[in-house]
Formats: sequence, C-alpha cells, structure tokens
Amino acid sequence: MITVFPAQSFQGTVTIPGDKSISHRALLFSAFCNESVPISNLLLGEDVLATCSILQSLGVKMSHKPHQLKKGDILTVEGCGGRFTKPEGVLDCGNSGTTLRTLLGLLAAQPFESVLTGDDSLNRRPMERVINPLTQMGASFKETWEGGRRFIYVQGNPNLNPIDYTMPQASAQVQTSLILAALAARKKITLTWSASFRDHTERLLSYFKAKLVRKGNTLTVEGGLEGAAIQVPGDFSSASFFIVAGLLVPRSKIILKAVGLNPTRTALLSVLQSMGGKIEISHFKDVGQEPRGDLMCESSSLVSSKIVGNLIPNLIDEIPILSIAQSQASGLSHVRDALELRVKESDRIAVMRSELKKVGINLKEVSDGYDIKGSQKSLGGSIESYGDHRIAMSFAILALVSKNSITLNNTNCVSTSFPGFFDHLKALGASLQ
Ligand code: S3P
Repeated sequence: MITVFPAQSFQGTVTIPGDKSISHRALLFSAFCNESVPISNLLLGEDVLATCSILQSLGVKMSHKPHQLKKGDILTVEGCGGRFTKPEGVLDCGNSGTTLRTLLGLLAAQPFESVLTGDDSLNRRPMERVINPLTQMGASFKETWEGGRRFIYVQGNPNLNPIDYTMPQASAQVQTSLILAALAARKKITLTWSASFRDHTERLLSYFKAKLVRKGNTLTVEGGLEGAAIQVPGDFSSASFFIVAGLLVPRSKIILKAVGLNPTRTALLSVLQSMGGKIEISHFKDVGQEPRGDLMCESSSLVSSKIVGNLIPNLIDEIPILSIAQSQASGLSHVRDALELRVKESDRIAVMRSELKKVGINLKEVSDGYDIKGSQKSLGGSIESYGDHRIAMSFAILALVSKNSITLNNTNCVSTSFPGFFDHLKALGASLQ
C-alpha cells in the first residue's frame, strides 16, 4: 500500500527502464541464433524475468540467472539455434500475457510436451487467439484447472505445417507467437492483418537478417537468424506516466532520457500534443533496430480528445493514463474501438470507471470504450489496482493533481513493468508514504 500526495511541482530528469516488449523479443529471438547475443538495458521487470527464466528451463544458456541481474548488467544469451530441451515441471508465466502467448508458439513446435500456468489475472486471459492458429498448424493443446489455476498442456509437433493466416485481432503477441512457431519448425509463415500494431518483431528479425517480405499488411518470414548486440531503449509505455505528470502538474518541466520512439508505439505523443501538451523530442537516434530520443514535457493546459479506430492498437497500453489526462482536460473526451482493454491485466474500462468514482471522477463506460468529461477535480481517497500495474501507476499520477492524497492498494504489480517507478516519482518531487 502506498499513499501519494498532491505535488506543488514536478522537476528533473529520469532515465526510463528498458522496453518490456523489446526485452521479451530480444530474449526469445536471440535463442534462435547460433551466436552469443549481448543485450544491454534489458528490462528487469517480473514479466521479462519470467521469459528469461523459462528460456533457461528450456536449456538456453545465459550469462546471469534472472533474479541475480542488476541494473547496468549486460545479459548475454548463448543462442542455441532454436534447439530446446524438455523442461522439468510447470513453466510459470506469472502475470505476463506476452510470455504465455509467445511461448505457446515456441513450444508448439518442440518434440516434447510442456505445461504452462500463470497468476490469477493471466489465468483469465484469452489464449484461443494463439491456440486456434497453432492447432491449425498441427500442435495440440489441453487446458485443465486445478486449485483455481489454469494449466495449459502443449503437445509440440516439430513438423508443424507452414501457414498463411489472416489474424482476426491486430495483435503483436499473436504475430510473434506464430512466427516463433514457424521458426522453431523451420517453416515459412505468411501473416496478414488489418490494422497496424507494434512492429518490434519485424524490426528485430530484419536486424537479425531473417528473410522477410512485407507487402502492405502481409508479412512472410523464413528463418536463419544471425545474432547481433541489442541495446533496448527505454519503454515508451512506462514513460507515458511521467509525460502526463509533466503536463498536468503546475510549474513542471521534466526530461525523460533515451525513450523508445518507434512510431507504432508513440500515438499517445501526437494525441497529447493535439490536446495542447508541450512535449519536445531531442537527441533522436535511429540506432540498431529501434529509434529513441529524449522527451521534454512541461505543464500545459489540455483540451479534450476523441480516440477511435486504427489509432487504438498504437496506444492501447496508454489508455488508462490517457483517461487521467482527459479527466483534467477541458471538454468532453471519448475512446471507442478499444474492446481489447477488457482482456488486459484487468478489465481496464470497468476498473478505471469504478476506481475513478472512488476519488470523485465520473467516467461513462460503453462496451468498447468510455466518455469522460474534463476539468473534474479528484478529491483523493483509496483505490484498488486489481493487480494491474498500469492502473496503479495511473492513479499515482492522478494523486499529484488531486485535492487530497490517494492511497493505492496492491502496488507490487508495478514491478512487472516498471521497477523503481515510485523512486523516480519521489525524485521528481512527489511525496509518498
Ligand atoms: C504486447 C502487445 C500488446 C500489448 C501488450 C504487449 C507485446 O498486446 O498490449 O502489453 O509485447 O507484443 P496485444 O498483442 O494483445 O495487442
């Protein structure tokens, strides 16, 4: 439990920890190389450590044990050319949807059976989106529930069929899972989608010299990866909490260093700028496989925004913090076409409505989004995170501009994506207890 007090101003410089999506992919795809791959600035959040530890259980050698990694360490993955060994026991993905979905793909092509599980939140999240196409490719799956926990049994098939598949959701996790299955089975795969989503997998595969052909929204991939050093940029989704704090808190000016600025992730930047947010990019560099730069954010008067359609997958993880910004902007804002929010770490539409209400802010829920009136003062109070890191961090930022403090219950979840979040909050001028 942590209480965050209203802030007079927010000032300083923060280096945001490594990107979660890129860190998972750096580990997974390095295992398919035949070289050693050094990874710097790997995110040491619980989700990425779960992927790291499962890959080690599958026989991938690395320079460090996951929980011994310290900030600043370079983790070296000894690529095993995608040859894995049967793990002992159940593979625990914790809270991480990316870990579970991507591993279902990788394991679908192995010559052994594996069993995967996760925490309460992960046990409720839909897996058919990967299980259906992987079944079409020739793998078999079985689900059981024991003691309130879901266990997914994967009977791998090293002779998976090549597939030409149109993805029903715009999902980077599904794309990555199916590509991992094809790489592991040494087969070609063609995927088509309708709306753009984060392209970290495609960028990393091209950096690792895989054979890729992209025609519109259709991608064909064949294996043969050649590893090279990876420098993970700061996580834009983690930065988004401080960006919004910098805009909302009066007398503020903050600088966020080396943040990942992949255009498939930064839709929130243009939305906040169109709302009147003063955000400037400097030191932009397109190094390695991913662009990055520094962000300067200053106190701003915001106006409302209406977010719909193809923009949604490019800011899906930022919608909880966007709703906080919209609640403080002038005018009526809305979000639509964001049904996916209902199956994230929590039902983020329902949870934002119920928890905002506890601090005196009204958000009107609709099936695929919400309406929210601006200029609503938060009175402060006590909220539940429902074990969802992005809910806890969003309310920590709202507390900075509330009348009274907000007590956040169940904040351990923050370490899944942003270890050190509360220390940075304090260093920038927040009082916490
Ligand atoms: C992720 C993709 C997104 C995102 C999630 C991480 C990834 O999910 O919401 O936090 O690393 O591939 P979907 O693939 O389900 O859209």
